[in-house]
Amino acid sequence: MVLNMKVKIGIIISLIFILNLIVISKYYSKPQTTFKEQKNIFAQEKYYLEKNLDRYNSYYATHPDLKIKDIIAIVNVDADKKAYENNQKADVNKGNLILVNKYNYLEENYTPANLMNMSTKFAYQDKQTIVEVNEAFINMYNAALKDGVNFYITSAYRSFTYQKELYAKYLLNYGEDYTNTISARPGFSEHQTGLALDILSEHVQMSEFVNTKAYKWLKENSYKYGFILRYPENKSYITGYAFEPWHYRYLGEEIALKVYQENITYDEYYAYYLAN
Ligand code: DAL
Ligand code: ZN
Repeated sequence: MVLNMKVKIGIIISLIFILNLIVISKYYSKPQTTFKEQKNIFAQEKYYLEKNLDRYNSYYATHPDLKIKDIIAIVNVDADKKAYENNQKADVNKGNLILVNKYNYLEENYTPANLMNMSTKFAYQDKQTIVEVNEAFINMYNAALKDGVNFYITSAYRSFTYQKELYAKYLLNYGEDYTNTISARPGFSEHQTGLALDILSEHVQMSEFVNTKAYKWLKENSYKYGFILRYPENKSYITGYAFEPWHYRYLGEEIALKVYQENITYDEYYAYYLAN
């Protein structure tokens, strides 16, 4: 009887052991994802760029939990590289479509052509922008007024020197990590292009602007006048900046409409459609 029991237990243990072996061997004999399959994972995505395939794979290897479409966006805009350390001169030949971000900079002496003073009807004192942007803003301002919405400009063109002072002030108050989420280093600010406007409501704190009628209106209508919301909510991993409901970038009506319709950041749009 005792022996029988021992035999039975032995058989059961052996069976469990064999079963384990089968399961383990099945798991390890699962074919590894081939390079070709891996490529297909990325290639199915809309903004896939063949030249970035190696970088998609590398980024995926270290960030396996990310969605494929996010890996593509991150790599396309260079956010897989360290900001500010892997940069190049912004392509000024792109005109109104120039890209300035943490990877594309303007030189200290860069000043946009056709700068003009903005009327204090629309802006704080001494604000300058490009003539074309001024015209587009006035059209937008008048259209908003007709809808009972009012806003004004608190910041427009900023020189390299002014941005340097601004950035230094933030550094002093907030330290480097936080500052880099809210302010561009000198040379890396879109405000130096003359194509960016900070638009706010009177008597409303910046932090409250997101809750205003003016923000809602701008979000839904600014593209019709050639502007886009440049640093949208939940896109910091692409833009490198926290959500800025007040910062609008002029691109002209045709491209602003496309960026709006595709619901992507300008960094992504530029990388896919305009770079090279
Ligand atoms: N606040 C934006 C990112 C700038 O400093 O240009
Ligand atoms: Zn701004």
